[in-house]
Amino acid sequence: TRVVILFGGRSGEHGISVATAGGVMGAIDRSKYEVVPVGITPNGQWVIAADEPERWAITDGRAPEVPASSAEVVLPLTVGDAALRVLEPGQVPSALADVDVVFPLLHGPYGEDGTVQGLLELADARYVGSGVLASAVGMDKHFMKMVFAGQGLPIGPYAVIKPGDWANRRDVVLQTIEPLGLPLFVKPARAGSSLGVSRVDSLDDLEAAVEEARSHDPKVIVEAGIVGREIECAVLGGRGGERPRASLPGEILVTDETKNGFYDYEAKYFDEAAVELSCPADLPDHVIKEIQEIAVRTFEAVDAEGLARVDVFVTSEDQVVVNEINTMPGFTPFSMYPRMWDASGLTYPELIDELIQLALE
Ligand code: DAL
Ligand code: MG
Repeated sequence: TRVVILFGGRSGEHGISVATAGGVMGAIDRSKYEVVPVGITPNGQWVIAADEPERWAITDGRAPEVPASSAEVVLPLTVGDAALRVLEPGQVPSALADVDVVFPLLHGPYGEDGTVQGLLELADARYVGSGVLASAVGMDKHFMKMVFAGQGLPIGPYAVIKPGDWANRRDVVLQTIEPLGLPLFVKPARAGSSLGVSRVDSLDDLEAAVEEARSHDPKVIVEAGIVGREIECAVLGGRGGERPRASLPGEILVTDETKNGFYDYEAKYFDEAAVELSCPADLPDHVIKEIQEIAVRTFEAVDAEGLARVDVFVTSEDQVVVNEINTMPGFTPFSMYPRMWDASGLTYPELIDELIQLALE
């Protein structure tokens, strides 16, 4: 079975995607799968990349990057009978002939948001993970919340700042934000890994936080801070009519060292002292069951397929509040998603195998 591992891409999470791909390259069962690594440079050029797991790891606090290449440059589209299109007419990289499935290990816009999924649909390609709609909803925190609310899932209070409203109707916008109280979390509507996210403890800092978020996305979401434990749950499956299944939950324990007071980009990937991932989370059985049930309902609410990580808060009264869904969660061997499955009895190579098999079903 020939698998395209597609990684990098035109998003702020480029480096995280590359690290994720390195993890998968290192663990995929080579006796079963032939790997075709296709990198997307930060500028959007698709290139045949090195099949070298170590090369793509996060080292010395630096996220890896897909280098521009003068080697084989490919445009997407291929798989199965459809011949691969290439930039140079007539130049079909042999590496890409007869690919069976694409594993889009892309985080953020232009990858996790339905755009690449749409391209793969047009190419008649099989691929791992969610389709166009689920990917798009999972990337846009504004529409994500509307879908969750529409399905009766528990979510926290929030406000949306659309580009024109911030410019022309700021007083109206502020009236929707003030009732949310403090602290606030100000986020780009469509980004990941906490890029552009600020915690706001005084309304005097709101404007700077909104501008920071707007540098990532003209649409911004403002959420009321929820007092509770940060718990994540991995969901797997969901093709062929089966109900997806949920892992044991994990917990993000943010220590005092986190500079910005929350699980931000630095803490996620570069600051080992800032955060501890505890898996399985120490929770009573009935709360674990409730989280798993809500995680599966959240997955189903957006019609997700394959995999997703659902992030929730658990309050001191054991109320579960859904924060978000990630349709292509961080997927290195050290990331929460694979770790939660490992704690639930499914190893990283087995997880990769199951995801590919789901896509081939
Ligand atoms: N957006 C990052 C990769 C995550 O959700 O894990
Ligand atoms: Mg996310």
